[in-house]
Amino acid sequence: MSGIETWSAARASEIIAGQQHLDGATLPILHALQHAFGYVDPQAVHLIADALNLSKAEVFGTISFYHDFRSKPAGRHVLKLCRAEACQAMGAVALHQHCRTRHGIDWHDTTPDGELTLEPVFCLGLCATAPAALLDDKPLARLTTGKIDAQIEGLSR
Ligand code: FES
Repeated sequence: MSGIETWSAARASEIIAGQQHLDGATLPILHALQHAFGYVDPQAVHLIADALNLSKAEVFGTISFYHDFRSKPAGRHVLKLCRAEACQAMGAVALHQHCRTRHGIDWHDTTPDGELTLEPVFCLGLCATAPAALLDDKPLARLTTGKIDAQIEGLSR
């Protein structure tokens, strides 16, 4: 992941100020913060709440409702595994368990070496080729444990 800035409350406030005039500004602000920093730092919650005259609970509720928002930095590579029905029907649960065991991490965690983050997604529109995933935004289809292991081992380190 390149072009990611180190978290800074001052920079976050600039980003928020640039978006707060929009209708329904919470989501554009959250996307802009995640684009800039790679995640939405928990300190951003009160900055957004103050700027938009919302409660911290409202802002936190929006962040937690959408699975795309991270509350901590991701690893160098991000594997998003589809947990929705078509993928489950094609063996995704066992595949996910394999990935979690093999890398010793749970959902939203990053390996201790900072290489891989595991995230859930809920339908990638690849249902016909389930089970599916995204590895650094590259679609992967008809996954097996061997196929996914090879993809991860083939990542540049
Ligand atoms: S259910 Fe997994 S891609 Fe649609």
